[in-house]
Amino acid sequence: MSIDLSVNVGSLALHNPLMTASGCSGYGKELAAYDDLSWLSAIVGKSISREPRLGNPYPRTCETPSGMINAIGLPNEGWESYTRNTLPLMRELVRGKPTKIVLNIVGHDLDEYTWVAERANDESDIAAVELNLSCPNVAGGLQFSTTADGCEKLVKAVRKVLKLPLIAKLSPNVTSVADIARAAEAAGADSLSLINTVLGMNVDWRKRKALVANGMGGLSGPAIKPIALRCVYEACKAVKIPVIGIGGICTADDVLDFMVCGASAVQLGTVLFVEPDAPQRIARDLKERMREAKVEKLSSLIGTLRAREGA
Ligand code: FUM
Repeated sequence: MSIDLSVNVGSLALHNPLMTASGCSGYGKELAAYDDLSWLSAIVGKSISREPRLGNPYPRTCETPSGMINAIGLPNEGWESYTRNTLPLMRELVRGKPTKIVLNIVGHDLDEYTWVAERANDESDIAAVELNLSCPNVAGGLQFSTTADGCEKLVKAVRKVLKLPLIAKLSPNVTSVADIARAAEAAGADSLSLINTVLGMNVDWRKRKALVANGMGGLSGPAIKPIALRCVYEACKAVKIPVIGIGGICTADDVLDFMVCGASAVQLGTVLFVEPDAPQRIARDLKERMREAKVEKLSSLIGTLRAREGA
């Protein structure tokens, strides 16, 4: 039985549903040391802003039961250095492979987001732009993702200048994911990715200290998968544009759980810290699971969850 893992996220044709989640594996070089990047359909790099940023003080990460907390603070080299040094390296890494480059961008305000988005149009080999409007770890990081109005304003402004496919990355730290998802769609996003991390905290009571210097941070890993599934399911019911699922995905079964809830593709994040070659295992297991279930085309499973009567 021949198994077809290909999926489409709007105009983005992917040979399999496995992308990296921004911030969890740099810009690809770190993973290439462990595995063939062909197992991934896209590398989503750490957020890039107009100016370089140093990020938050250390420690920036800590472990939690079934997860981790990060408060990295969006450190990055800034647009100029990115296009001069890192993007050319990414092009080399994916040359001849089916793996696409997705640029994740961030800004302090509308002006910075649109400045970067506009320049992305002129760079070759960027398949799509993911808009990080949901970082919980910097002042103002959630200003565009916690109200429908704020989200709509930002997505609209970026849409106006960006010619590439636009993915809006949403936060779970909201009252109604559906409202925000609808706002992003109305403003012109081509697809959504969710969830970013869940605001959390971890402490050492003996030292009377929080375990990341920022105090709070974003929780990721298997601990958040049920929250992510719920958010993806709600978003998929609210919009017509495709949704990319993120949150605690470690196995092929996790991928399939997200896809039946409506996700067209997924991003792998925290799992890459413990198993940088997880994409290969997950892609192989996906084929196995599909063979067992006698499903030829992965895309035929998208959104097939049988909802409880009346739900
Ligand atoms: O702190 C960080 O750099 C995290 C970013 C994010 O969650 O988007």
